Amino acid sequence: MLGTDPRSGRKNQPANDETLWMVGGGVLSLVIVGVMLWTLGAIIDPGVEQASNNPIQLLVDQARGYVPVGGMQLTVFALGMLLLLALALMLVVVYRRSNKHRSRIDHLAKEMAHSKDFAELGEAAATADTERLGAEKAGIGVPLAALVNSGKPLYGSWEWVQIWLMGPRAGKTTCVCIPQILETNGPVLATSNKRDIVDMTRGPRARVGTVWVHDVQGIIGEETTWWWNPLSFIHDMETAEKLADVFVSSATDAGAKQDAYFESDGKRLLSHLMFAAWVGKRPITDVFLWAQDPENMTARDTLKAHNYSALAKALEQIQKLTPKQRDGVYGTMRPWVNVLSYEQVIPWVRNMGIARPEFDHKAFAKSTDTLYLVSKEGGGSARAITAALVMAVMTEAERTAATQPGGRLKTPMMAVLDEAANVVRWRELPDVYSHYGSRGIVVSTFFQSYSQGVEAYGEKGMNKLWGAANIRVAGSGLSDDKFLPFLSQLIGDRDVLKRSSSTSNKSGRSVSSSVQREKIMDVSDLAALPRGRAILTSSGMPSGLIELKHFSTKPYAQDVEGSKAYYEGVAVEKGLVIDEN
Ligand SMILES: Nc1ncnc2c1ncn2[C@@H]1O[C@H](COP(=O)(O)OP(=O)(O)O)[C@@H](O)[C@H]1O
Ligand SMILES: [Mg+2]
Repeated sequence: MLGTDPRSGRKNQPANDETLWMVGGGVLSLVIVGVMLWTLGAIIDPGVEQASNNPIQLLVDQARGYVPVGGMQLTVFALGMLLLLALALMLVVVYRRSNKHRSRIDHLAKEMAHSKDFAELGEAAATADTERLGAEKAGIGVPLAALVNSGKPLYGSWEWVQIWLMGPRAGKTTCVCIPQILETNGPVLATSNKRDIVDMTRGPRARVGTVWVHDVQGIIGEETTWWWNPLSFIHDMETAEKLADVFVSSATDAGAKQDAYFESDGKRLLSHLMFAAWVGKRPITDVFLWAQDPENMTARDTLKAHNYSALAKALEQIQKLTPKQRDGVYGTMRPWVNVLSYEQVIPWVRNMGIARPEFDHKAFAKSTDTLYLVSKEGGGSARAITAALVMAVMTEAERTAATQPGGRLKTPMMAVLDEAANVVRWRELPDVYSHYGSRGIVVSTFFQSYSQGVEAYGEKGMNKLWGAANIRVAGSGLSDDKFLPFLSQLIGDRDVLKRSSSTSNKSGRSVSSSVQREKIMDVSDLAALPRGRAILTSSGMPSGLIELKHFSTKPYAQDVEGSKAYYEGVAVEKGLVIDEN
């Protein structure tokens, strides 16, 4: 066969003897069928007397005029040939149709995982797995995409965590996040840096449980109808340190150079102040006030009054450093807590004396609620509040899971961390990733590139996150210079029959073949993956080519469109600028 390759820049291979045989065989079959029809026509045509049963004899007789050619014989021949032609045409049309939705790399799918390799991700296996986990209330499984080879939908287990890497506008939000949010009846935590995900899923999710939208930077204009106290995460010094760390990592990039001494003391100082605020039942905004004035001893006195004398002493030591050192430590810490002075942020983190519900992150894992967290980079470190809330909800979900049979949430919690690098600056995420799945906390993390993840969690952290994920997907729009060669290697090699033709005066043109190994997809193929296509890898399975399923192809498409139209309409009415990205 001719080695056709629809990718640009690839030459078709020269034709060889095989091709000639195929064309010759096709023509010969056509002649044989034609002759058979001609003979059959003659036999059943009463007008053709003395017709021989031998086709050759008949043809010779009729050519010589010994036997007449009958009308019915001609009709049978013509009709038979027409039927054959119609059949061939139909085959071409069906083939074309089935190829209409195929992209230029789909022919490579057969070199990758076959549908039986992915049986574990199929609907039947997913349903059985969900039954085993007793998670039927949540849904069939976590929707992923469809396998290009079979067109069948794929589902992830309620015990698996996922990582998705795709460039901007490649379909992360509309093809993956939205189905994952809507195809469960359990609690959902979703993050984003814009209104899209909220508008599109808020309507349908409001019918499942309460919807909480946290918009601490005022990105989508959500009113502060509720509040959450970040200090409620604290119950000992360790949790205070974790909370402080979220404020630090939200204000800095992983690996960014800071003075190690000042940073470590600054962090220690911040965790002591936060712990003191919690102990004294003060609002978190007090931490900002204390951070401005190294002479302010309220935090130390609070700790002392509540019998935390060792901590009070440690705090005092920092406050009593030489003025130069002390100013260095305070100066390093201040930018981390600046967010607590923002007018827009304050109503989200403290009770303003208005009757508003306080969000209880401890109850979330047992609810069927939806918590949307919207924030983005810039805007100071306001995303610290978002990251803190993610940390609080997930940590508490783990604790709740420990009290349930099998140490797992019976109805799993879905955490769809869209735009995670911008929104969820929680450095511990890669460390906790691997065991969240087994707790029934299904985390899907979305990045625009591998390097975006490195920026947020550090090289080690991102490698860990990738390694811990059970489902790993890389889609279109990626161009990382280290990640793509790695992915290409992961997909593996294939044997290809290479033909080369040579012409010489003596023997004329000759074609020779040899088997060679080449990458199934090389870096340029991966960099040019069309929208809607992605590579899925999972432990114990070969990589597979998948087709993302846009929400508009799902049964809830109307519901999503309706929700989007309604909430965007509300935003327009309020005079909010709609971010189209
Ligand atoms: N497979 C697809 N079929 C149809 N439209 C798509 C598909 N993938 C993405 N889109 C459209 O492209 C735009 C960007 O998609 P989006 O999901 O927001 O990308 P991302 O979240 O990766 O930036 C949206 O308007 C979306 O509807
Ligand atoms: Mg998106």
